[in-house]
Amino acid sequence: MRNPVRAFAPASVSNIACGFDILGFALQSESEGDLGPGDIVTAREPGGHGPVRIAAIAGDEGRLPLEAERNTAAVAAKALIDAEAPGSAVDLEIEKRMPLESGLGSSAASAVAAVVAVDALLGLELPAASLLRYALAGEVLASGGPHADNLAPSLLGGLVLVRSLDPEPDVIDLPVPEGLTCALVRPHAEVNTKESRARLDRHLPLERAVTQWGNAAALVSALYRSDLELLSRALVDVVAEPVRAPGVPGFHAAKAAAIEAGALGCSLSGSGPALFALCDGRDGAREVAAAMAGAFDSSAGLNCDRLVAPLPAPGARVIEGEA
Ligand code: HSE
Repeated sequence: MRNPVRAFAPASVSNIACGFDILGFALQSESEGDLGPGDIVTAREPGGHGPVRIAAIAGDEGRLPLEAERNTAAVAAKALIDAEAPGSAVDLEIEKRMPLESGLGSSAASAVAAVVAVDALLGLELPAASLLRYALAGEVLASGGPHADNLAPSLLGGLVLVRSLDPEPDVIDLPVPEGLTCALVRPHAEVNTKESRARLDRHLPLERAVTQWGNAAALVSALYRSDLELLSRALVDVVAEPVRAPGVPGFHAAKAAAIEAGALGCSLSGSGPALFALCDGRDGAREVAAAMAGAFDSSAGLNCDRLVAPLPAPGARVIEGEA
């Protein structure tokens, strides 16, 4: 048995414009050998106190709670241990390799890396649906509601549709057209997902719901047909983006710059403030990312981190000595 076990879970883009709470894709770096943004969780047994103890957190500038009941990774790991290995005790070390509150699925990456590490440490080999269910306990703590559009791609990789979580996670892996690439920019600002979700309308006019599910269905169809024109028409969000965009200075300028630079479509990544744009090819994605970053700077005075992420990206995995 391996002890300790280190697991990496990637950052992710959720919603993909028209798929609020149901669509998402994993992110990766385009540089060989670079894990890209995400979290590493190291699980070790026997642990100190209780089923799960947080032994250390790095890369969070002291902002994440060490108390197990308030920590996303610990809550997810405890849900797994309570159900599958009662009596076990593990220590977790969390290494944040991505920014907090950026719209890139930071809480999901913590929860997923924790359940993958604990599953491997205890030699359980649980199915993905079970890991997702336990990780969901951590995501609910962080974002205030059950949704798996960051968790599922972070765990499984690729671009996925979460059809339902009830009674069990039902996740569909979708095909990705050759060359589809994500240009991502993260302005140096933060959005709290729980607060952002609380501001969304609880009831939608039927016309808006029809528009949204028409686009979501069209996006899925476009992926199966590798139809980039249809994909471009489908990348429209009439549910969350209109409510959230006013809270991201420079959003409209950055989105316009992405389209002008040739992006197929652009929207908030999750609850923002990061923006993603889908592009045909890496060279185009680099130009789009540069255009978005320039627009954030000139319109809102915000500096940005940039990422060009070829799709599909791999999901969570146990790692050895990878940096
Ligand atoms: N689908 C979620 C939202 C993702 O937009 O609120 C953020 O966790």
